[in-house]
Amino acid sequence: MKKNIAAIIFAAGKGVRMKSTTPKVLHEICNRPMINYVFDLVNDLKIKDSVLVLGHQAERIKKTIAPGLKVKIAVQKKLAGTADAVKTALKKVGSSSDTVLILYGDIPLLKKDTVSKLIGYHRSTGADLTVLTAVTDKPKGYGRIVRDRYNTVSRIVEEKDADEVEKDIKEVNTGIICFDKKKLSSLIGRVRPNNKKKEYYLTDLIGIFYDKDLQVEGMKITDISESLGVNSRVELGLANAIMQKRINEKFMQAGVGIIDTNSTFISFDAKIGPDTMIYPFTVIDNNVKIGARCSVGPFAHLRQGTRLENDCLVGNFLEVTRSTIGSKTLAKHFGYIGDSSIGRSVNIGAGTVTANFNKGKKNLTVIKDGSSIGSDTIFVAPVVMGRNSITGAGSVILSGSNIPDNSIVAGVPAKQLKNKR
Ligand code: UD1
Ligand code: MG
Repeated sequence: MKKNIAAIIFAAGKGVRMKSTTPKVLHEICNRPMINYVFDLVNDLKIKDSVLVLGHQAERIKKTIAPGLKVKIAVQKKLAGTADAVKTALKKVGSSSDTVLILYGDIPLLKKDTVSKLIGYHRSTGADLTVLTAVTDKPKGYGRIVRDRYNTVSRIVEEKDADEVEKDIKEVNTGIICFDKKKLSSLIGRVRPNNKKKEYYLTDLIGIFYDKDLQVEGMKITDISESLGVNSRVELGLANAIMQKRINEKFMQAGVGIIDTNSTFISFDAKIGPDTMIYPFTVIDNNVKIGARCSVGPFAHLRQGTRLENDCLVGNFLEVTRSTIGSKTLAKHFGYIGDSSIGRSVNIGAGTVTANFNKGKKNLTVIKDGSSIGSDTIFVAPVVMGRNSITGAGSVILSGSNIPDNSIVAGVPAKQLKNKR
């Protein structure tokens, strides 16, 4: 019989230490709410049945994550602890599963391979409960793994309830646990809030299973950074750096050149073609597509809706947003290009600005193939510039202008000169 797994994802907590009005799991890592990485994990593991536990700001979280996502929601009325969260979620878990996997909305860096290994271990040992543990020199804040004289996991003691000897234990609970569903369901009611926080701790089940002679296993994680829990903005920053490194490495493996991964910030959803070079201090936001053999940066900011076709150059101190830049177009030095459609083989001089915003409205700039824009040209949008035309340095192209093909314009406001290009 094929065994099915159901996942329970914790996301009810307040995230007090974030000191934010935004619920913790909606804080972004590489431009994306951190909880989405956990949904990806569930998806990659092909888990069909998942229950998200919400509580604090449940409505807001639901709204952000709802579109197209197949996840059931269980709302915890009072945040009475992680065992109470599981009890609430179990009511929504379908009947086809025999194993329950506990995941956390605020543990966003876990890799599929690690969780697959945990599930494999849980199955091959025939355990009733398998906890993913981590060995660390900084166990502070985590539940400590207590093992008996046969080295079997016998209990988890939370930091607040641990004595001095227990506090010295270097093996900690990552929080990720696999349970036999039947045994979990029948024993979850045994958990009592006998601790400093007066909460129902899921971790008490380890001792309860052990005392009942059920099989309890622990599997140590290889790379402890994967189990990083985000509780504060400092940890959010750490998680962001780790995720950014992964994203950058993925691009490098696909043939994108990144000179300095520490100063290159690429959104999780960017598309970048091979042999494109990204120079340091470049920020690439959501919904950006870059072709092959382009050169971007240093100090470039490509914002939402930027499209660079192949063989473009977007150089130093350039900001581009909601714009398409055609192939072989060069914009080498500082400037702003917004709400623009720039053709192929255009040369954009230093300091060019599209003044797109007027009377609360964003206006379009169109620059057609083969044109040459003199340094410090300002396009007061809406503006259309024909093919193979030229603007003189310092030109101001007034709003509503429609510059014909093959012409030359110059001055403030720019006027068409008699000589053609
Ligand atoms: C928990 C574990 C600890 C482990 C650590 C790993 C317990 C009792 N302790 O401690 O052993 O080392 O995680 O990061 O489980 N939540 C709910 N409903 C609640 C309470 C919490 O959904 O009623 C959620 C929180 O949003 C959070 C998660 O459960 O995502 C863990 O809760 P938290 O209070 O952060 O537990 P820790 O003290 O971190
Ligand atoms: Mg926590």
